[in-house]
Amino acid sequence: MTELKKHIEEIKEKLHQWSHAYYVLDKPMVDDLEYDSLLKELIKIETQNPQLITSDSPTQKVGGIVLDKFEKYQHKTPMLSLSNAFNDEDLKNFNDQIYKEMENNNYSFFVEPKIDGLSISLIYSNGILSKAVTRGDGVFGEDVTVNVKTIKSIPLKIANQLDYCEVRGEVFLSKKEFDKINHQRSLNGEELFANPRNAAAGTLRQLDSNIAASRNLDAFLYYYMDRETIATHSESMRYLDSMKFKINSLGKHCTNIEEVIEHIHYISEQRSELDYEIDGVVVKVDEFDLYEKVGYTSKFPKWAIAYKFPAEIKTTKLLNIFPTVGRTGRITYNAALEPVQLAGTTVQAATLHNADFIIDRDIRVGAVVKVKKAGDIIPEVIEPIIDKDFDTLEKFQEATHCPECNFILERFEDEVDQYCPNKECPRKIIRAIEHFVSRDAMNIEGLSIKIIEKLFANNFVKEIKDIFNLKNFKEQLIQLDKMGEKSVTNLLEAIEKSKLNSAEKLFFGLGIRHVGKKTAQLLITKYKNILDLKDIDWNDLEEIHDIGPTVTKSITKWFSDKTNIEMLHTLEEQGVNLKYLGQIGTKFSDSITNKNFVITGTLSKPRNHFKTILEEYGAKVIDSVSKKTDYLLAGSEAGSKLEKAQKLNVTIIDEQEFNNLIGGKNEN
Ligand code: IVH
Repeated sequence: MTELKKHIEEIKEKLHQWSHAYYVLDKPMVDDLEYDSLLKELIKIETQNPQLITSDSPTQKVGGIVLDKFEKYQHKTPMLSLSNAFNDEDLKNFNDQIYKEMENNNYSFFVEPKIDGLSISLIYSNGILSKAVTRGDGVFGEDVTVNVKTIKSIPLKIANQLDYCEVRGEVFLSKKEFDKINHQRSLNGEELFANPRNAAAGTLRQLDSNIAASRNLDAFLYYYMDRETIATHSESMRYLDSMKFKINSLGKHCTNIEEVIEHIHYISEQRSELDYEIDGVVVKVDEFDLYEKVGYTSKFPKWAIAYKFPAEIKTTKLLNIFPTVGRTGRITYNAALEPVQLAGTTVQAATLHNADFIIDRDIRVGAVVKVKKAGDIIPEVIEPIIDKDFDTLEKFQEATHCPECNFILERFEDEVDQYCPNKECPRKIIRAIEHFVSRDAMNIEGLSIKIIEKLFANNFVKEIKDIFNLKNFKEQLIQLDKMGEKSVTNLLEAIEKSKLNSAEKLFFGLGIRHVGKKTAQLLITKYKNILDLKDIDWNDLEEIHDIGPTVTKSITKWFSDKTNIEMLHTLEEQGVNLKYLGQIGTKFSDSITNKNFVITGTLSKPRNHFKTILEEYGAKVIDSVSKKTDYLLAGSEAGSKLEKAQKLNVTIIDEQEFNNLIGGKNEN
């Protein structure tokens, strides 16, 4: 090593140490001036010798990169979310569930704050931070490495030298930083962020990394699994700490559920004192080798749960009740409220669901009402307060006509909701297009509701097929206010790209009643072409899970409408793909697609690994063995599920046979 290189390494080491002490340990070793002057020295040397800049240099933390867009990245293992507990009883049930699965194993818990930020996955290759990816939909996230590299408490280099080391955690903004940013924004006359979480999300998704660098994002890490070397979550936390990651100091190992509840109370008491927002407490089984035993539902691990703090309830005046119409024509009633601070945001609108909801609770305009945030997101009116003025207020009357097109509203038999039956109702069309372009449907970026409204008002898009003609109006679109050349070009590109989607996205996007994402997937995997669904024998569907008469009736009705068939033909002529292309590659197998699987016992990889593969083939992975189960994939130490499968004559396969199943009989 040359003298200069050695000198640089020494400076870098010092700066790493100082910055760890400052940003992670909150115990500064030197004052800011000393840090800055050494950093300046490094910048100077690196500017003169750019060949000596390494990706782990502290100088790489300052932003400076502007991207066009974020690349998509497929997580190696999906980023799951957690099921919720709202009280002690839920926590005890969680414990009972685990106890049942445990047979003779001892288990314990780890309890830590649930940080109200955004989950992030950090990938280190040979000790160097190489990728940082958002959760996205859990399977595909966005590569936000350039922004994450600006986070001072995230090390660019760690001592773990594995070629693949993944650590997960939460990016957040402290309350102090949040206030600072909003103060600055109000001085600049810019719109304020609603809460620290939104501000952090807005920052992480900035294409210009200088913005992230200026905003002091922070991150707690809470997930690292390398079962070869680490046996428990507590140990993994100590390990992350030794790798110089920022670990939350309120995490605690608890030996039983009573201790868990006690520590949850303790964390709740600390909540208002903390300099970052938490929205609950996460409880995890501590022993990694029990994860598989406890298992997963289709969405969540069963070895962890998020205890959510009770929703805050406030009272405010109900100023008005007004109906709105959605894409299916369903009427939702909304409340205009006198602004009130609720769980970190100013609330001035809330949902009242349907007319029956309002009538049952006797909610009246002018009344003082209780409001809360349902699931901490959408505010909801709970009930009115019956004060001395209440009787003077007029009782609520349900709407009789569509607020948008004035058609007389209808009700379906046995349904509480009212519907606008007008096929040409402008709001229904706009909402239908919004659904059509949404992420799980055609995934056309750049068509926000505002843009759709604008295109609709200017007669560019009056129905779905018009989206694919937009390319003929490029110049006119650029002229539309605020659209601009760049965004129009991006939009047209996104539209062209969407034509190549596998057909389940289009089928879901059509917005047929009762056809959700999963149903669309199952049907298209089986029938391969949307147009083929037109004349199939629905009795066949008995074989497909979860598809009952309500769904088939709705689909049959949709296809019996000639204009819908015409639309599909037009889309096909426009180059939109109507066929199944497979989710990842083309995966179909007679023995797997549409079959029911149960997974049990210890396998060479987490259960989710197998589940993901099976689902790629359109199989369904369920929790318990029944007569309907087609296969039990059993690892070693399989317990009661294996016994039950034997009793019911379910085909039992081991990992080797599973591999043959996917390798050997993959027909495409
Ligand atoms: S563990 C499979 N621990 O909460 C387990 N999550 O609904 C993965 N979160 O998406 C999550 N603090 O973004 C875990 N200490 C913590 C957390 C935490 C916040 C977030 C995370 C996750 C969501 C779960």
